[in-house]
Amino acid sequence: MYQIVEHPLLKHKLTVLRDKDTPTKEFRELASEITMLLTYEALSNLNTKEVPVETPITTAPGAAIADNLIVVPILRAGVGMLDAMLHLLPSASIGFVGLYRDPSTKQPVEYYQKLPKPTGKDRVIIVDPMLATGGSINATIVLLKDQGFERIKTISILAAPEGIKAVEDAHPDVEIYSGALDEKLNEHKYIIPGLGDAGDRLFGTR
Ligand code: PRP
Ligand code: URA
Repeated sequence: MYQIVEHPLLKHKLTVLRDKDTPTKEFRELASEITMLLTYEALSNLNTKEVPVETPITTAPGAAIADNLIVVPILRAGVGMLDAMLHLLPSASIGFVGLYRDPSTKQPVEYYQKLPKPTGKDRVIIVDPMLATGGSINATIVLLKDQGFERIKTISILAAPEGIKAVEDAHPDVEIYSGALDEKLNEHKYIIPGLGDAGDRLFGTR
C-alpha cells in the first residue's frame, strides 16, 4: 500500500525544496517541516490507550500513544528528517542504518547498523527523503525483518514509480508514504524531476 500525502502546505513547501536555488539552511528547514506534515498523516492509525487527565477544573478523558515507536533514518540523508520525527515523537527509540548507493551499480552498500531490540509491540518508521529505485529502503526492510521487526512503514519526501513498485513487490505488508510521486528515474537512477542529491543539499557537500 502506498499513499501520496496531499496538502496545500506540503505542495508549497515541496516546490521551494525542489528549487535549485534554495540554500542549504532553508532546504534543511523545509525538509523538517515536510517531514512533520508527512508524519502527521502516516501515523494517523497509531494505537492509543485511555489516560484520564486532571484539568484545573475537573477530570477529562485523555489518550497516550500505546505503541512502542522506533524511527530508523537511513544514513546519511535520512538524518535530515530525524529532528522533525523527534519533535513529534519525543520518546521514540532511534535505530540507524548506514547505506550508500554504489555509484556504478546503484545497489545499496551497508556500512553501519545499530538498532534497538524488538519488543513485540514495535511500530517501525523508516525515514529517507528519496525513494528512487527502492534498493536502499528494501535493504533496510530486509535487515529489520531479519532482526524480528514486523510492523514497518516508510516515509519519503519524494518517490519514483519504480521505487514504489520495488518496495510493494518485495514487501506488500509495508506501508509507504511520500510527499509526491514523481515521473521516473533517469539513467543515473536519479528521480525526475526530483530535487537533486538530497544528502548533498541537506549537508552542503558537493
Ligand atoms: C540516497 C537517498 C537514499 C537512496 C535512494 O542516498 O538518501 O538513501 O539514495 O536511492 P534508492 O531508492 O535507489 O536506493 P545515497 O546513496 O546518495 O547516500 P547519502 O544519503 O549518504 O547521500
Ligand atoms: N538519491 C538522491 O539523493 N536523489 C535522487 O534523485 C535519487 C537518489
